[in-house]
This record gives sequence, C-alpha cells and structure tokens, in this order.
Amino acid sequence: MSGLMITFEGGDGSGKSTQIALLATRLRSLGHDVRTFREPGGVAPGDPGERIREILLDPVHTELGVRAELLLYEAARAQLVAAHYLPGLAEGAIVLCDRYADSSVAYQGYGRAVLPVEEVHELNRIATGGLTPDLTLLLDVDPAHGLAQATAEGADRLEQAGAAFHERVRAGYLLMAEAEPERVKVVPRGPVDAVAAAVWSHVEPLLGRMERE
Ligand code: TYD
Repeated sequence: MSGLMITFEGGDGSGKSTQIALLATRLRSLGHDVRTFREPGGVAPGDPGERIREILLDPVHTELGVRAELLLYEAARAQLVAAHYLPGLAEGAIVLCDRYADSSVAYQGYGRAVLPVEEVHELNRIATGGLTPDLTLLLDVDPAHGLAQATAEGADRLEQAGAAFHERVRAGYLLMAEAEPERVKVVPRGPVDAVAAAVWSHVEPLLGRMERE
C-alpha cells in the first residue's frame, strides 16, 4: 500500500472538521491526492453510509441498544473501508478520516460502559479487516467546552448522552493514546492556527517517509 491514512479523533466540538479542511488544503497545495471522509457516513446523500448516519444521530431512536448502535457504526465503516479507503490507499492517495475505529472504542466502549472494550476492538477488526491508520490525531478538549460548541445548533442523539458519558469518552481516548503513542498523537486545544501547526508537525515526517517508498 503506497498511500497514507490519517484519522482525526476527539470529543464532540473538538474542531476536527476545521483542522481536516486546513490539512487537506495544505496537502493538496503540495500536489497530493487527498480524499476526505467522515464517520459515520458515506460519500453522497442517500447512500447506505449516509442513511445509517441518519439512524444513528436521530434523537428519536432512544430505544437503540448499545450493541445495535455499535454494529451500525461498524457497518458504515466496513463499507467505507472496502469502497474508498483501501482503493484510495492502493492508488497512493492520502486518506483523511473524520473519526474511525477509535471512535467506537471511545464512545460505544468507554462511553457507554456496557460492552467490554475488547468486544469493540474485535468488531473493529472484523469491520476494517485490520486496516490501521498511519497516524491518528486526537484533538483533546474538555467536554464542557466541546459540547457547548457542538450543541449550539441543537444536540444530536450522542450529544444528548450527558456529561459523565462525555468525560468517559475523553478518558478512554487518552488511555488509547497512552497505549499506542507511536500512532496516536494528542493535540491540546488552542487557537486554530496553533492546533494546525501541531497537526502539521505530526503529518510532515510521514510525507518524507512516503517519498522514500
Ligand atoms: P458528528 O455530528 O459527525 O460529530 P463530530 O463532528 O463530533 O464527529 O456525529 C458523529 C457522532 O457519532 C459523534 O457524537 C460521535 C459518534 N460516534 C460514535 O459514537 N461511534 C463511532 O464509531 C463514530 C464513528 C462516531
């Protein structure tokens, strides 16, 4: 595989989408083929991933059980891996993902605190075939701040899950960063430019590696 897979993780309202857009622009200006995705989701309105997203985020689905929730995230992910991530990487593209498998570990595993975290890892392996990002940027924010940002326009189903849930999500993410320090880099909250500079400091060395391959 000749491309590069970079995922962004963090709590709701951590500014991932802004940082992904800035990084994509910077990489494209250097001539890279950059493809961006967000999970849960698809690539066009009405495709299976987008329809799964609607189910997952709709606050009306209060009865959705944790295992069903997890499997829906995994189904949307499996489709993106097969149809977009693997082909993109094979073509030498830089694949940028707004959330990936670590989100399921953080939210359905640590956040919901019902299923063993190992079960979430197992389902991630099944959905992704073991595809692991080259780099994961964890944009770490205090949930009190992040949620205020994220819910300014009305809370979705996950954002309504409560403060203790979002504290567990954050703690789970930090544990993952500790467990895999080579892959997962923690980027603290700060002004947009400072966060972008920190992101770039982690991405740039990988580009050098790509060129040598
Ligand atoms: P979204 O509006 O895309 O939020 P954000 O901008 O914070 O990414 O909604 C995605 C929501 O789904 C978010 O609350 C995190 C949650 N989520 C999971 O619980 N598990 C997962 O595996 C993924 C990918 C997302």
